[in-house]
Amino acid sequence: MTELVIRELRGLEILDSRGRPTLLARCELASGAIGRASEPSGASRGAAEAYELRDGDPRRHRGRGCLRAAASITATIADAVAGRAFADQAAFDAALLALDGTSTFARLGANATLAASLAVARAAAAATRQPLYAYAAGLAAVPHAPRLPRPMINLFSGGKHAGGQVPIQDLLIIPQADSMAGILEQATAVFHAAAELGATRYGMRLLTADEGGLAPPFPTLEAMFDDASEAIVRAGLRPGRDVRLAIDVAASHFATADGYVLRDQLLSSRQLIDQLARWADDYALASIEDGLAEDDWAHWPVLCARLGARLTIIGDDLLCTNPARITRAHECHAANGLLLKVNQIGTLSQALHAGQLARAAGWQVVVSARSGETEDDWLADVAVGWAGDQIKVGSVTQSERLAKYNRLLELEAFDGLRLAD
Ligand code: PGA
Ligand code: ZN
Repeated sequence: MTELVIRELRGLEILDSRGRPTLLARCELASGAIGRASEPSGASRGAAEAYELRDGDPRRHRGRGCLRAAASITATIADAVAGRAFADQAAFDAALLALDGTSTFARLGANATLAASLAVARAAAAATRQPLYAYAAGLAAVPHAPRLPRPMINLFSGGKHAGGQVPIQDLLIIPQADSMAGILEQATAVFHAAAELGATRYGMRLLTADEGGLAPPFPTLEAMFDDASEAIVRAGLRPGRDVRLAIDVAASHFATADGYVLRDQLLSSRQLIDQLARWADDYALASIEDGLAEDDWAHWPVLCARLGARLTIIGDDLLCTNPARITRAHECHAANGLLLKVNQIGTLSQALHAGQLARAAGWQVVVSARSGETEDDWLADVAVGWAGDQIKVGSVTQSERLAKYNRLLELEAFDGLRLAD
């Protein structure tokens, strides 16, 4: 690989899909190649995520301003790296870690470091005349052949993404078509059928949650699953065969010191596992993400032993794309799937390492966007280049979601990439 000599690196506060500030970084290499990338931001964040630097000034953007994080890029990082030659992406990302001096990027902000890491990656890809997915694939010591991940698509939203009208954060559909175009056709058919169902059953206008999912006021949690199945049937498809269901419980967000508060019930960890097992049986779930809280390490192995042979037990808040937490979870058999969110850890190279650990453990890797996103489509290329098994980007509405799906469609049609089996 050619050396990366950085001429200029700049950060800018921009706005995300929720109307909140985030960052755009732009990198120019000495060769003249330019790369730019923008940073997502979560609302349902794990406690072990890398540090997201916000200004904290209540007079701007309710304290969420990103001027200090932009200055981390334009001043601190640029001063330290401009004019220097880096052997590769890993060397650049290691320099970010060394410059910060903490493992969580508590000084520079992981939002600043990831935006910089991605802008450098885009510039390096441009310099070597590669699409970003090919560059991403080349970062692995032993690259996988790039392939299209199978989308798991948000149909119904709850929890922190929809004002808490139901405690479960996402009910997702996994269309089983054998092409990206076919998957998105099935997904939109189910989405529109579910929207019509919501209009007649709940008198709802087509209002969507943070990730573009529908958020009807379901009378019971089972009604949410039943409506999803009904929407699949109304779309002319077979639940469990043409389209599978999955959930992101995001249980950390309804866990209390006394137990899990699921609507009007207070459940122990074991009772919540029983409930999840009933839903897994009744609705043939393909995966359960964050079925338990991020610190309930004692019971994740119980959940995984109970259901892990039949479905994927995915850790998001539990793992935070953090190699140490993934290793711990592997050793105690707490999960068999990683939700890989690049900005939970702060650089591309560390996220790649997390994904490789999960794959070496034999887990499924689900590359994921955040609830606050931008029109940038880099995630699609990263998921393809790292041969993710699945991708989780949200619903099939809203252009910050569609930027990624449309990029996957383009890679299928024009670059000849095929879906993971
Ligand atoms: P977040 O949620 O981006 O708001 O953190 C996404 C998820 O929990 O999967
Ligand atoms: Zn999650």
